[in-house]
Amino acid sequence: MSDSTAPGEVWREVDRYLEGALLPEDPVLAAALARNAEAGLPPIDVSPAQGRFLHLLARLAGARRILEIGTLGGYSTIELARALPADGRLVTCEYSPEHAAVARANLEHAGLADQVDIRVGPALDTLPTLEGPFDLVFVDADKQNNAAYLDHAIRLGRPGTVIVVDNVVRGGRILAGGDPQVDGTRRMFAALEREDRVQATALQTVGAKGYDGFVLARVR
Ligand code: SAH
Ligand code: DHB
Ligand code: MG
Repeated sequence: MSDSTAPGEVWREVDRYLEGALLPEDPVLAAALARNAEAGLPPIDVSPAQGRFLHLLARLAGARRILEIGTLGGYSTIELARALPADGRLVTCEYSPEHAAVARANLEHAGLADQVDIRVGPALDTLPTLEGPFDLVFVDADKQNNAAYLDHAIRLGRPGTVIVVDNVVRGGRILAGGDPQVDGTRRMFAALEREDRVQATALQTVGAKGYDGFVLARVR
């Protein structure tokens, strides 16, 4: 690394270093990423280090029921579902039937198909049909609906439920309105400002996926 290396390149290199030190080779996750690429899915899964972070959060929470909004090819789904006990369950909402089909194949290959229920369709149609409580909710779909997703996550939670929302910084673009996705996340932050039902924070992150961040909340 030279002094002239662009910051993003350093973030990427450090993520590679951390992955090498902390994340053992994982053929199942590697196969999922390969299948995603083969199917032409956008490479917007959480990074390996972020995925392991979600896994550890679920373990720390002792999660037995997990809800995910935004499946893509199931990379984060695999990390989260692997944190479940044998009788644990994960429900994941995915708009695109094509993405859901890739996720199904990846979850089958991971040996997790029996524990994961993929609900295909707009999450706003699925969420009202779900019964809680969930112990952990990961929100990672269309950011336009983040305020509604947060509301559903709280409603479907119980005291102590962990809520994580991905992509809440977007390279700093969260500061400016104008983009529908950023505006959606800004509405979520505005809701959090007067939300008594959760205690929340947000962390900025850098790494292989650039400069972004997530919200971490706990239902009171
Ligand atoms: N959590 C995944 C990445 C999800 S990418 C991972 O880290 O591996 C966001 C996903 O949300 C995409 O697959 C997209 O099709 C889906 N999505 C977009 N709008 C949606 C909606 N209204 N309801 C459910 N899923 C939606
Ligand atoms: C995008 C979506 C994500 O969930 C993510 O983690 C990164 C990028 C996107 O839509 O560009
Ligand atoms: Mg995301």
